[in-house]
Amino acid sequence: MKIYRKTRDVSAFVKSVKAKGKRIGFIPTMGYLHEGHLSLMRRARQETDVVVISIFVNPKQFGPKEDYRRYPRNIKKDERLARLSGVDLIFYPSVSQVYPKGYLTHIDVEGVTEGLCGVFRPGHFRGVATVCCKLFNIVRPEIAYFGWKDAQQAIMIKRMVKDLNMDLAIKALPIVREADGLAMSSRNKRLSSRQRKDAAVLYKALSIARRLIREGQKSPVAITSKMGRMIKAKKGTRIDYISIVDEGLAGVKRVKKGNMIALAVWFGKTRLIDNVIV
Ligand code: PAJ
Repeated sequence: MKIYRKTRDVSAFVKSVKAKGKRIGFIPTMGYLHEGHLSLMRRARQETDVVVISIFVNPKQFGPKEDYRRYPRNIKKDERLARLSGVDLIFYPSVSQVYPKGYLTHIDVEGVTEGLCGVFRPGHFRGVATVCCKLFNIVRPEIAYFGWKDAQQAIMIKRMVKDLNMDLAIKALPIVREADGLAMSSRNKRLSSRQRKDAAVLYKALSIARRLIREGQKSPVAITSKMGRMIKAKKGTRIDYISIVDEGLAGVKRVKKGNMIALAVWFGKTRLIDNVIV
């Protein structure tokens, strides 16, 4: 497994891989890898010839008051896990490698970025779209893999690829969860043991919502207010949103099959997101 820190080294590697007619699978990450990330790498290993990942905590997708500095990092452990998952190359660039002095270009995907997390994290999706576009241009993958845990992100990236005629396929894979249902996330590591236990309420609330819908409940307000009560019962939580949305991420008046229940909730200083499809 190779680890390159320079764009030009990745470009040379990609060129030689392409010359041999091999297909590249790519997984962009911010590191501190867990099973959620590894599931994407294993899928890429099955479906493509050469697996490339990036590990880059992208400053442009964090707000000024967000956790860019505190974001967990452990490159040694990440290297080991990536190697075990069959990764061929880690692109591990510095900030100045990705955004050299004088950098000016950004990508704004409208519409799908305006609701849900877009309301609470202005500039976040612009940062994600920009870095993903750059990484796609450097790595030139046939397929890029994303997790449904960040559903709004995956939907936005698909939109960007379509709108800008980018020549790659985007695959979004299911959420990998802990035994108690908590969606795996690098940020889980920042929870206290009490918060970690309490955080299981998110998937519990989503599961109860799904059951209510199966039993015939169609009112988003009835469902999300019940979820809200369950979550607020845990000390130190603050809800950014609990929403039921359609495929275009617009809020619905009556719940239908295929809708998504999505939420973002703070446990102390840690913000967690999760969702299920009904
Ligand atoms: P990061 O949070 O490191 O996630 C990298 C990829 O792993 C994303 O596509 C994310 O949806 C997926 N992932 C995370 N947790 C998962 C889980 N429990 N199950 C399945 N997939 C999971 O998302 C980012 O980084 C960044 O925004 C990035 C796309 C790299 C751009 O900077």
